[in-house]
Amino acid sequence: MPPNIFQSRSSAKDVFRDRHTLLPEFVPDDLPCRDQEIEQLVANLSILLDPHKTISVNLSITGQPGVGKTTLAKKTIRDLRNAAIANGINLDTFYVNCHSFRTKTSILRRIALEKFNIQGRGYSDEELMEMLATRLEKENLRMVLVIDEASMLSGEDILAFIHLNELFSPEIGRLSNIIICRRSEWTLMLSAPLSGRIQDQLNLDGYGEQQLLEILSYRRDLAFFAGVLPDEELGLVIDISSRTRNARHGIEIMLRAGMMANASGSDSISAEYIRAAKTEVYPELRSDVFHDLKDNELFAAMSVGRELSKPGRISTTVNDSFEIFKLITDEYNEKPQSKATYRLCINTLEQLGIISHSVSSIDEGTRGRRGKISLFDIPAQILVERVENVLKNRRR
Ligand SMILES: Nc1ncnc2c1ncn2[C@@H]1O[C@H](COP(=O)(O)OP(=O)(O)OP(=O)(O)O)[C@@H](O)[C@H]1O
Ligand SMILES: [Mg+2]
Repeated sequence: MPPNIFQSRSSAKDVFRDRHTLLPEFVPDDLPCRDQEIEQLVANLSILLDPHKTISVNLSITGQPGVGKTTLAKKTIRDLRNAAIANGINLDTFYVNCHSFRTKTSILRRIALEKFNIQGRGYSDEELMEMLATRLEKENLRMVLVIDEASMLSGEDILAFIHLNELFSPEIGRLSNIIICRRSEWTLMLSAPLSGRIQDQLNLDGYGEQQLLEILSYRRDLAFFAGVLPDEELGLVIDISSRTRNARHGIEIMLRAGMMANASGSDSISAEYIRAAKTEVYPELRSDVFHDLKDNELFAAMSVGRELSKPGRISTTVNDSFEIFKLITDEYNEKPQSKATYRLCINTLEQLGIISHSVSSIDEGTRGRRGKISLFDIPAQILVERVENVLKNRRR
């Protein structure tokens, strides 16, 4: 019998004690250096555990990439839910990432289906809102909704979730909202009516060197066997990530460097692996961002990537990259798509921070506008590789 590929692998050397703890979805038990923010969230949300009051709390969490916004919110609702169970309060929580659910309608349908087993198709947003409100009331339920990457929605959409509470008797609120987005996007989204409904705003600063030392030492000890990543080498990771003040930057470098050590059968991570891993990590970009894209959006990203991989090419246009897009859909045996669909894909990629699409007049006094597409953060070749990997996995 041929050897089983999983069993032969289990005897291979592994520097990871628990590799999963370095993946983006992992939520650690502790969040060093965020005590003050945790305190602030607890102070705002504790009222939801009061059996004599039924009110809603609306908060925002903003900050630059990789400073723990998502993780802080996930940990907070996990602990809130457990505290509610312990105190006999009927409270539920729901986390939604708008990279996956990009419209108010799709979020409402998701909640209706997952929480109340209601098939939302065929109902208007207003009807869905009413159905949710009726169920919350009937079940005497409080719900906390976390809307992550909220800049995919408009300020009005977010207000609609807050306004759901107006379907209850005056002074009763059952749906609380925690809105998360990057700082600059929040400023763009914030309107007077929205800011008037947000009780408290938390803005998370980037991490300094000392804080990264504390955070990354903790994450190293969770992920690796003792001695795999010595303090001196960890210092290099801290040094690199303190330039971006981004904890994810350091965590992704540790993950990739660990994988390199495994691949070469080494039982520790040297400075060489860290330097090599550094070149593969793009701190602004969530590593899982491509998994949330639809096939057409992946094809669009690939078409921009292929265009910009050509020597000397710094930017491209919708027209030029659309030609490549057509070839790619054909290559993957998919139906041809219109230029209008392609433009929508380009807009989404821009909203996600993968590409930059600036529109300017061709010439003063000339009719028509031309969009210049370029890449923010990630080299074109790496973009193509990552997209190809996601498509390959989907087609397996
Ligand atoms: N204080 C902390 N302690 C431990 N780990 C942390 C801390 N802050 C952030 N992290 C880790 O850093 C990574 C990035 O955090 P997170 O994804 O929450 O950032 P974010 O602010 O939501 O970034 P983005 O704006 O890109 O979505 C995660 O792996 C998270 O677990
Ligand atoms: Mg996040």
